[in-house]
Parts: sequence; structure tokens; C-alpha cells
Amino acid sequence: MHAVLERIGAEYQLANAEMRRLFHGRGGCFEGFGWLVVDFLPPVAIIRVYNDKAPVSLEPLVDYLMALDGVTGVGLQYRGRSRHPETSVLAGEVAPELVCNEAGLSYAIRPLANQNPGLFLDMRSGRAWVRAHSADKRVLNLFSYTCGFSVAAMAGGASSVVNLDMSAGALKTGRRNHRLNLLSEDKVRYLSHDLMRSWGKLKKLGPYDLVIIDPPSFQPGSFVAQKDYRRVLRRLPDLVDAGGYVLACHNDPEQREEFLRGIMAEEAPGFQFKERLAQGEDFPEQDSEQGVKVLLYKREGAWN
Ligand SMILES: C[S@@+](CC[C@H](N)C(=O)[O-])C[C@H]1O[C@@H](n2cnc3c(N)ncnc32)[C@H](O)[C@@H]1O
Repeated sequence: MHAVLERIGAEYQLANAEMRRLFHGRGGCFEGFGWLVVDFLPPVAIIRVYNDKAPVSLEPLVDYLMALDGVTGVGLQYRGRSRHPETSVLAGEVAPELVCNEAGLSYAIRPLANQNPGLFLDMRSGRAWVRAHSADKRVLNLFSYTCGFSVAAMAGGASSVVNLDMSAGALKTGRRNHRLNLLSEDKVRYLSHDLMRSWGKLKKLGPYDLVIIDPPSFQPGSFVAQKDYRRVLRRLPDLVDAGGYVLACHNDPEQREEFLRGIMAEEAPGFQFKERLAQGEDFPEQDSEQGVKVLLYKREGAWN
């Protein structure tokens, strides 16, 4: 546990009072702690256990976290593919809803929510890229969830953003996230559709200079990457303007970067691979293929 606490201390300093993963045991870089994740969602720390039971006492960890000057509560969540997450408060107070910052932008966060607290922390470098490259761009954000990419794009000066997600609740939080940051409301649209059933409106609202694709890996009935991802990529020529960019994301540890590169080459050959964005240092992975893959493509043609 000593090495774990040391790592948490170092990451906590880097967090600088913003959201950050303090410990990512899931990446396999800390022997014996593959079951443990700790997130800092100021002012609370959430311990996530990917196991039926924590194999060691969590007491020293809770004490350590509570001793950090910006932590006022510690929550616990048991999770894993097969079980419904169970949550509890281990120390101090954990409010059901918070507003937390990343790169100076605010997001509505539910620290102990079932699946995700409201922002995928492992997509920080993706949001940073979008913010840095969105000035005056028309952006389409597919599978937008709570619109983290849209907030980043608008903060970076996008001329418009269209967000699409089948979850009206996620989009409602997305709207709130824009308001929290005082971002112009009239340039942002929120479409609550099943993407696989309707493309006409998206095409009509386009073309776009940047299309972000960040689907779930496996959501039966809605999207299963193995078969559905290529159906999205095949639409890109109708959506992306000449010289425009595509940020294609994939978070399935079972499918390597080659999967996405392969289907992109088959379905959208007019788009050139540029780079894979590096993940934040707070998500160390023994095998980088296990982490989220964020690939940047550019459509041939003029545009800076
Ligand atoms: C991985 S999350 C997206 C994360 C998001 N891009 C972000 O930056 O926070 C996947 C999202 O896809 C949505 N989704 C799944 N299947 C869909 C479909 N067929 N059409 C539209 N949205 C879908 C889910 O509601 C969920 O919000």
C-alpha cells in the first residue's frame, strides 16, 4: 500500500485542485493493485474497487485521502462488468452532485453515479486537443454524452457544435455544462436520436470541419463497436468538409488500435491517419492498447 499512497500523493499535487485520476491500478503498472482506482473529484476522493471485495483493508487509504488538505469526503464504489455498482460513504461527506473543474472549465459531476460521474477523465487529452483546434470550426460531436467535447470546443472558439446522443438525460447535463461555463447557447445544438436510425438531419446541418466519434464499445441494442463502428465511418464523406478532421475514439481494451485503423481504411479511404493522441500521465498502461484509443484523421483537401 505504501507505493500506492506515494503515487496518490504525487498525482494529487499534479491535480492542482482539479479533477484527476489519483491511482489507476487497472492499467497493470502496480502489481497486486489491478483492482483499485482512485479519482479526485474536488473536494471528494472516490475509491473504485473492481472486485467483489477489496483484498486488503482500505483504512490506511481512507485515512491518507482524508488527510489531504482539499479532500472533505471519501466515497467507495464497487464495480465491474458483472455487478451492479454498490456505493457508500467511508469518511466525511460526499455530496450527490458537485461542480468540478478541468483545465479551468466546469462540469456537473455525480461522484457516486452508477456508470460514470459525468465526465470521462481518461479523455482529458482529447478535450485539450479539441479546445486547441476548434477556433472558428463547425463541430459535430457524435455520442456526446454530457457534451464534454462540446464544452471544450466552444471554449476553444468553435463557430458551432452539434451534439448527438440517444440519452436525453445526458444531453440535459450537457446543456447545464455549457451554462456553467457561460458559453454561447445559440451556437450549440443537442439532438437526442439513435444515431444508427437517422442521418438526414446531421447531413443537413453539415458539413463540419471536425467530427468527433466516441461511442460505447458494447451497448447491445444501441451500439456494438465490432459491427456498428464501420457503419458510422462510412458516413464520414457526407459529413466532413474537404480538409476537415475526424477524432475517432475507441475504449474497448479487447480491440486494438489496428481494429479502428483497419475499418477506417476500408470505409473512409479518403481520410489520412495523422496521429494517435497520448493519454494523460494519470492513466499509466502496461499495454497502451488496453487504454482508450484516440485517433486523428484528416480529409484530403484544402483547410489549414
Ligand atoms: C462513451 S459515451 C460517450 C462519451 C462522450 N463522448 C464524452 O466525451 O464524455 C457513449 C455515449 O453513446 C451514447 N449512445 C450509445 N448508442 C447510441 C446510439 N445508437 N445513438 C446515439 N447515442 C448512443 C450513450 O448514450 C452514451 O452517452
